[in-house]
Amino acid sequence: MAFSHTDLIDINDYSAEDIMRILETAVYFKGVNERKIKKLPTLKGLTVVNMFNEPSTRTRSSFELAEKRLSCDSLNFGGSSSSTVKGESLIDTIETLSSYKIDMVVVRDKHAGVPGIITRHTSAGVIDAGDGKHQHPTQALLDLFSIWQKVGHLDGLNVGIVGDIGHSRVCGSLIPALKKVGCSVTVIAPATLLPARPEVLGVDRVTSNLDEALPELDVVYMLRIQRERLEGAPYPSLREYNMLFGLTQEREHLMRPEAIICHPGPINRGVELDSYMADHPQRSIILDQVYGGICVRMAALYLLLGGSEHGITA
Ligand code: CP
Repeated sequence: MAFSHTDLIDINDYSAEDIMRILETAVYFKGVNERKIKKLPTLKGLTVVNMFNEPSTRTRSSFELAEKRLSCDSLNFGGSSSSTVKGESLIDTIETLSSYKIDMVVVRDKHAGVPGIITRHTSAGVIDAGDGKHQHPTQALLDLFSIWQKVGHLDGLNVGIVGDIGHSRVCGSLIPALKKVGCSVTVIAPATLLPARPEVLGVDRVTSNLDEALPELDVVYMLRIQRERLEGAPYPSLREYNMLFGLTQEREHLMRPEAIICHPGPINRGVELDSYMADHPQRSIILDQVYGGICVRMAALYLLLGGSEHGITA
């Protein structure tokens, strides 16, 4: 059955069934990634533009690798090497690239809303790879995939998201995605790192007390302090932030025996996570999230580019 979307801009546009279809397809691609020969001819002849106007390690590398493993042609573009530095507008840029008869644009930009604007100036599909403080939908999908693979289910899990909620595009996609698949969500943050009206988050609980919340959680999702997006000083010092909101070895006794730790990366070690917790062999699934990134991005590219109409070509 054809997938009902050609763009991935806002996770709120996706139903729980759409989300689970991507995760189930990612299981197939996980199998492909575990083979010696990891390349499939599935998207041969299609062209994807990766337009990264903001730094990225995980998202960019996993999209590029996903495209290579699906045999599509990739055009890597963006930042200071493009004619935008000569004053060319975003719209002229995207219309120029679209003249090459491209099939998909994967875009990261520091401005919220850019992926949505691009959809109006290209007939190609568009995937939001992170826009300002708005959304990062493939991150949410890989997070769900990694938790699902580790725990075995999503429905009924208590997930705590700790840290810089207000500046986080990861939260913008992760909270609605978790709610759609039946998780209970607690956010844990100082009031200065929450939206002015926390009720807009649509979560089950908001608290500033990590120690009180930890014993309730099946999944502890730590967020990076978005230093590049902070205005003023929302906490007295990084040391104090770490004392109140850092997931440290001293706090492990407060965690459920089976509770797991997630982080979207990059980690500020010693701020939101200490190395004991970040590298915890039983609890940390941070590198599983990175691996889930390629499986989920292969699945998203495959479904959004209509691969399901032809069946997976193994
Ligand atoms: N999680 C994430 O988006 O990481 P990058 O900024 O390295 O892509």
